[in-house]
Amino acid sequence: MHFEKLTVNKRATQINVDVERVANAAVRTFDKVMGKLRLGGRRAAYDDVAYEFLGGAQDTLRKKHYDKSLRLLWKAEHAAPWTSFKDAGEAEKALLGIAERGLNDAEKSARSRISSKDFKALLDREYTLAEKKALVKILSKIGHGEAYAWLVSASMLNEVKSTGARAAVTMQVMEEAKHFVVLRELIQAFDVGVPRQAVWDYLLLEGCLRAKGLNRFFGMNVLVETIALSIFGMLSDKPGLEVLRLFHLDESRHTALPDNYFREFPMTEWQKKSPSARLSRLVMSLPAVPLVLYLEPELAELGVDVFEFAGSVLRKAVHLAERSGFLLPLPGKPMLAMFNAIFNAYCKATREHHEWRDYMAADTTGGAAEAAIEREIFGTPQAAAAE
Ligand SMILES: [Fe+2]
Ligand SMILES: [Fe+2]
Repeated sequence: MHFEKLTVNKRATQINVDVERVANAAVRTFDKVMGKLRLGGRRAAYDDVAYEFLGGAQDTLRKKHYDKSLRLLWKAEHAAPWTSFKDAGEAEKALLGIAERGLNDAEKSARSRISSKDFKALLDREYTLAEKKALVKILSKIGHGEAYAWLVSASMLNEVKSTGARAAVTMQVMEEAKHFVVLRELIQAFDVGVPRQAVWDYLLLEGCLRAKGLNRFFGMNVLVETIALSIFGMLSDKPGLEVLRLFHLDESRHTALPDNYFREFPMTEWQKKSPSARLSRLVMSLPAVPLVLYLEPELAELGVDVFEFAGSVLRKAVHLAERSGFLLPLPGKPMLAMFNAIFNAYCKATREHHEWRDYMAADTTGGAAEAAIEREIFGTPQAAAAE
């Protein structure tokens, strides 16, 4: 490369450099003092000398979340061709074309692009009106939840330390945006209207967004995303809902984020164990119980016992919370035993011929791949319930 050099005035350049050096020293010192006095200072948690965000590189977090998210990145144009999305690139389309050439006719027709009209016809063929309404009621809980997941994850960008953690959270923000817009089209395709948030959903999700600092990781990534993961796992093997497998895969990564983050930046014992922190987590979790239990008629319409579903959600959420260090007022085992007793007492009072059941060992995840992913995160239901 040959550049045509221009001449500069060396003396003027030197003066400019000196002015910048003095100004930089003055501004940085002022910001440092203001920061120490907690009166402001530098807004960015960024170290331009080390060329890193405060907290360092943390490449492990980046590899486990940012790199993995990009490897598993899916596009709605391929995964849900009946939607309005045109998000696949030319190179991806060419690759898919090559892959499809290797399929036989039956495989090709199974993968064929279907229009939005065809998709609605498929839903009408596969489900009765009551089943469609039940599916929409259940999915809309997560539909509204994805809006909050998008808001909460974006707010976490300024909460986490290190380049790796920010890269990880950035991918979560992008995935939640995709979940919100794609799930919205899926739910609207049922053509039965979309219910607004019930009071429990509203309180739970507002509580997550209002929570202080890393407690938002507990509310969203541990609690809400475990409910989402369980709903996606329960429905992803149903006709027309196959795209939920990809949501399930993304949510499993999101539920693992707090634990991976705390391995790099552990919480203090006080943050984990203080009575006020334990209590605030309990208060944050309480609306989740009626949120799930009020789904009894809709889950029953799909052949799922609400207490089995609730038991499996509770077991997974408690396991994740304890593993991440988000302790609750009671240790996991007695708390699960308490809920098991309450569920059984309620069923005994309201159902005919109820026999005692260990609801905490139940599992309502349908697809084999999804069950395998959950076993990796939570262990087997029996082992986890016996822990
Ligand atoms: Fe999501
Ligand atoms: Fe998520």
